[in-house]
Amino acid sequence: MSDPLARLRDMQTADLPVHGGRTLAYVYDSGLPDVDRIGREAVAAYAGSNGLDPTAFPSLLRMENDLVGFTADLLDAPPEAVGTVTSGGTESCLLAVQGARDSRPDVERPRMVVPSTVHAAFLKAAHYFGVEAVVVPVGPDFRADAAAMIAAIDEAPDRTVLVVVSAPSYAHGVVDPVPPVAAAAAERGIRCHVDGCIGGWVLPYAARIGRVVPPWTFAVEGVTSISVDTHKYAYAPKGTSVLLHRTPAHRRPQYFAHADWPGYTMLNSTIQSTKSGGPLAGAWAVVQSLGDAGYEQLTRDVFEAVDRIVAGVDAIPELSLVATPDSTLVALVTDATCDAFTICDEMATREWYVQPQMSYDGQPPNVHLSVSAATLAHVDEFLTALTESVAAAVAAGPVGVDPGVAAFIETLDPATLSDDDFDGLLAASGLVGGGEGLSLPERMAEVNAMLDLASPAMREALLVAFLDRLARPNR
Ligand SMILES: Cc1ncc(COP(=O)(O)O)c(C=O)c1O
Repeated sequence: MSDPLARLRDMQTADLPVHGGRTLAYVYDSGLPDVDRIGREAVAAYAGSNGLDPTAFPSLLRMENDLVGFTADLLDAPPEAVGTVTSGGTESCLLAVQGARDSRPDVERPRMVVPSTVHAAFLKAAHYFGVEAVVVPVGPDFRADAAAMIAAIDEAPDRTVLVVVSAPSYAHGVVDPVPPVAAAAAERGIRCHVDGCIGGWVLPYAARIGRVVPPWTFAVEGVTSISVDTHKYAYAPKGTSVLLHRTPAHRRPQYFAHADWPGYTMLNSTIQSTKSGGPLAGAWAVVQSLGDAGYEQLTRDVFEAVDRIVAGVDAIPELSLVATPDSTLVALVTDATCDAFTICDEMATREWYVQPQMSYDGQPPNVHLSVSAATLAHVDEFLTALTESVAAAVAAGPVGVDPGVAAFIETLDPATLSDDDFDGLLAASGLVGGGEGLSLPERMAEVNAMLDLASPAMREALLVAFLDRLARPNR
């Protein structure tokens, strides 16, 4: 029998690299091999430990309290603040919504007010927990429109259990105006969650090194909870985020206990019950090893990379920034001479992963970059690749969607999309492989252009059908 670890290493060569600073979405790379090694060894050492019962594994409780304490200090939390380590940003966001809902048992049809740029995790929470999401368009600078958010609260203040703002938003990397929204929420006795999942770890260090950071932490009156992901810009292994609450009373409804069954009394602080101690140990070890001084240096590095990328983009006439980044996320939009999706493909051929973002609410397709500290060493290469990719996209011309395919999509109803419809679309667009299964083309620009043409509801239905086809057992 062949060595399974060797087989894993072999299979992994098909994946995006997690090191090297060339993958500008999904992964966050400190570029420090020792820090990675410490994180991985800690994950391995605790892979079998169970965070279900802190009395059985007290070292996990100690690590969680250490990590929450470090995060609370970072985010200006008051002395009475508490928190929980979750499995990731989505779980932290889900719990913020669930906790807000369950803090108001008097409300029959709970609603929450969110800006249109809020992370999709909140729409997932709305879906899971039966909370109506009132989505408020953002302003022209892509930041939440505070006045419009407040007006939305006031349409039904008694039913509003939560207001959410981002620091920063994923798609545009800008920080919402937290103070007016949080103050309005506080005046009305409504919880205000700040989603700092992606930027929450890096923004405080950015402020410490003298960059201008809009106010967004617990220093802002009225902020009741904050989520911040350690598996993003704390450069920890995947599988942890911290959800902080201003007081223990704010956290209480998040806890779940059930004693009315014949087994152990179930007592959970998160959605998971049994949970590996590995990710928590990995995050704890990485945060201990880097400490404030390490994060300050990594923040200098990542912002130097961002500033050089911004300056480099300025020199490419076909590209512009969607918004001046408040953080480490950059969104690039193209002029009419070149196609954003083709740029993503061209970057991939040059071994850079940049993420396509579809058009939304009048904003054309664009290119997302989550810049890592490790990218700094390669910024010149990145800008060369970007310049070449733009030139190649200009030369390739616009990406057309076959009118037959476009017309076919028009006939489909996302609410009732059937397997036959999906097969028809695959056949019409030439995406069926020989034999069984799907065969994705090397270049995705045409597929992305086709998806971009579809309404969000249609895109969701198509991608769900696609995932359903991908996820089939090997037997
Ligand atoms: C602002 C924000 N919130 C929430 C999330 C969800 O985090 P995760 O992918 O860890 O579940 C993300 C992920 O990018 C994010 O950027």
